[in-house]
Amino acid sequence: MNERSGAAPGKGAVCQFLLKSPEETRQLGLRIAERLKAGDLLAMSGDLGAGKTTLTKAIAEGLGVREMVQSPSYTILREYHSGRLPLYHFDVYRLEDPSEMYELGYEEYFYGDGVSVVEWAGQVADFLPPGALRLRMEYGAAEDERVCTIEGMEL
Ligand SMILES: Nc1ncnc2c1ncn2[C@@H]1O[C@H](COP(=O)(O)OP(=O)(O)OP(=O)(O)O)[C@@H](O)[C@H]1O
Ligand SMILES: [Mg+2]
Repeated sequence: MNERSGAAPGKGAVCQFLLKSPEETRQLGLRIAERLKAGDLLAMSGDLGAGKTTLTKAIAEGLGVREMVQSPSYTILREYHSGRLPLYHFDVYRLEDPSEMYELGYEEYFYGDGVSVVEWAGQVADFLPPGALRLRMEYGAAEDERVCTIEGMEL
């Protein structure tokens, strides 16, 4: 895993990782999981199939979640309680309207004592807490290559 880090003006730490395989993405997820604490929210963006769910599965693994983690594409939210911290995994791609977040009771999750991971977080930008960690997954040059940029977390 190649990595670069620096600081964006006013934004704190920015780390970038070149992930050359799904296994390297898994290693990054395990590393993120070690740093996560109660109340953290990881706002994920990136194209379809970039690897947001793959990374979230590794974060779940790192938190010690024992259940099978599946993409919440159709359910919007899946929660897991068997790990070190509760994990609330959102995928808001299929929300018809951001206001559906109220029906989901999002505040209990975003401001609760677990960790929230939100795929397609840009769709619910107005609902994200100011302290959200930002993570972007992008396609790299080769087929199994991805570039992950993380803001707000020292890794
Ligand atoms: N380095 C890599 N890291 C992550 N996934 C990779 C990598 N190389 C190849 N892949 C493949 O890319 C796919 C990523 O799919 P995944 O469902 O994680 O993406 P996603 O960003 O969650 O997509 P969606 O926007 O549809 O939710 C998987 O099939 C995975 O095996
Ligand atoms: Mg996904």
